[in-house]
Parts: sequence; structure tokens; C-alpha cells
Amino acid sequence: MASTPSQTGPLRHFLQFRDLSRDEIHYVLDRARLIKDKFKRYQPHHTLHDRNLAMVFEKASTRTRVSFEAGMYQLGGSVIHLTTGDSQLGRAEPIEDTARVISRMVDLVMIRTFEQTRIERFAAHSRVPVINGLTNEFHPCQILADIFTYIEHAGSIEGKTVAWIGDGNNMAYTWLQAAEILGFRLHVSAPQGYQLDRKRIGQPPETVLREFADPMQACRGAHLVTTDVWTSMGYEAENEERRQAFADWCVDAEMMAVADPAALFMHCLPAHRGEEVTGDVIDGPQSVVWDEAENRLHVQKALMEFLLLGQVA
Ligand code: CP
Ligand code: NVA
Repeated sequence: MASTPSQTGPLRHFLQFRDLSRDEIHYVLDRARLIKDKFKRYQPHHTLHDRNLAMVFEKASTRTRVSFEAGMYQLGGSVIHLTTGDSQLGRAEPIEDTARVISRMVDLVMIRTFEQTRIERFAAHSRVPVINGLTNEFHPCQILADIFTYIEHAGSIEGKTVAWIGDGNNMAYTWLQAAEILGFRLHVSAPQGYQLDRKRIGQPPETVLREFADPMQACRGAHLVTTDVWTSMGYEAENEERRQAFADWCVDAEMMAVADPAALFMHCLPAHRGEEVTGDVIDGPQSVVWDEAENRLHVQKALMEFLLLGQVA
């Protein structure tokens, strides 16, 4: 594999969760712990001094944009923010050409887009590491932050049970990859027609994945209960149909009551109180959603450092 002038090792991308090995994920999470501790003590951590990150957004964002942008500056680097509308992507410049050009000018690229194939095409023509900031298929940075948050609050996630309630979407598929790599079990309950696609996931063993028609059963004994919007970005035309299909997939106090007594609640945000989660759960004592959102910053700083510098500790 080729190295770029700004990298110390082979070119690595983070397009899906399983692009990192178990050991590398643990390294990034440990490094994020150190980076977060330094951040809290106002200690500078300028390991990416003079490096430049391009961020390409083809969908809306609050957390992803702010965490990558603030994170890169905090590492001593700088950022360029592009959207479809204000770049030539909106005027049909091929993604391959865009990748060739941008990656000659910056050290690292983060993209939020539609199909996974689009980010794969970008990465295939990039000279620098590419990070998935969400696609229709995966949201790996979010799951890194979620696992960091779980460990921070409750210790190792290995052997634990995570209940995914709602849409079999980009978050759910990424949780499944994380369960396979890190050794925990995923319970999924999704309405008929919105389950994980067997053509994509094959037949994971029961130690990794169990599916439930009833969301209450999926939550039983879970150490983490998590959900997401009923309608993800790009699927807005299905909004009404989804509102009807998902009506029983609202994480409420009853579901939390059958989970492990110490269970945490997470949501990648943005949330719709009264739809996928009740206000008393997301704003209640078991919810760690604000730590989860903050931790995007810390884990992505560790991830960017890892992709550019490799393991430095
Ligand atoms: N969770 C998440 O990715 O949030 P944004 O869409 O605001 O970036
Ligand atoms: N599944 C959601 C996550 C948003 C952060 C979406 O893709 O819109």
C-alpha cells in the first residue's frame, strides 16, 4: 500500500467499523481516554500540527461537523468544509475526480454521503485516509463514540447485551459489526419490513445477534438500550408510512424497566421525543446521550491521529 507524504505508515481508511481490528479499536479508545483527560485539563495536544482535514457533507449535520472541526483545530490542524451545494459535486463532477483533487491538497478527508459505494469510490481514488462520517449503510464514528461512552460509564462491553430498538439502519448495521469484533451480543427489534437484511449480514451466530418481534423482549436484561430516528436522512419520502410502522418501537420507561437495573440509554441524536423515545427516558437518569455526543470529539481526535500517525503510544 502507498504512503502519503504526511503519513508515517500505509494508507488506511475508516469506511466501516470493521476496517479496524479489535486491537486497533482498543488502541483508539485508550488514546481517546488520554486525549479527553488532557482536554479536560486544558492541556494542549497538538499531534496533527499543520495537518489539514477536508470535510465533505452531502447530508446535514450538527455533531459530526462540530466534533471534526473543533477536534482538528484542537490537534493543531485546520479544516475545510465543503457541501454538495457549494462545491462542484452539486454540478455532477465525478466523485473519483473530486477525490483525486482534494486528496492532493489535504492530509485527511471525512465524508458524509448517501451510498457506501460512493465513499468507497472516493477512497479508491484518494491519496490520503478517508473517514466515513455517515452513509446510508454505516455510521462507524458514532459507534466508536458509543462504545467509548459505554466503557466510561460501565466498564468493558465484552460479554454484554446491547438492545437496538427501531430501524434496521446504518447505526444498527454498524452495531452488528462492533458486536462481531468486540465480543458482545446485539438484540435487535425492528418492525416488519425494517429488519436487518439477511443478504447483507448472512447468519451471525446467536452469541452475536438475536432478533425479536417484540421490543420488550429485546430489552429484557440488556446492559444498553439504544435507538435512533424512525426516518433517516435520505428516506424522508417514507416518513408517513414509517410513523405508522414504528408506533410500537418507542423506547419508554416500561422497556427500560425490563433491562438490566444498571442499563444505560443511548441515542446518536438528533432525537424526536415522543417518537422513538419518550422524554422521561432520554432526559432521565439512565440516559448518557450528552456524554455520548461529546465523546464524538474525543474518539475522532484519536481516530484522526491513528490514521495519520499510526500507534504513537
Ligand atoms: N449523531 C450524528 O451524527 O449527529 P449529526 O447528524 O448532527 O452529525
Ligand atoms: N440514522 C440517522 C442517524 C443520524 C445521525 C440518519 O442516517 O439520518
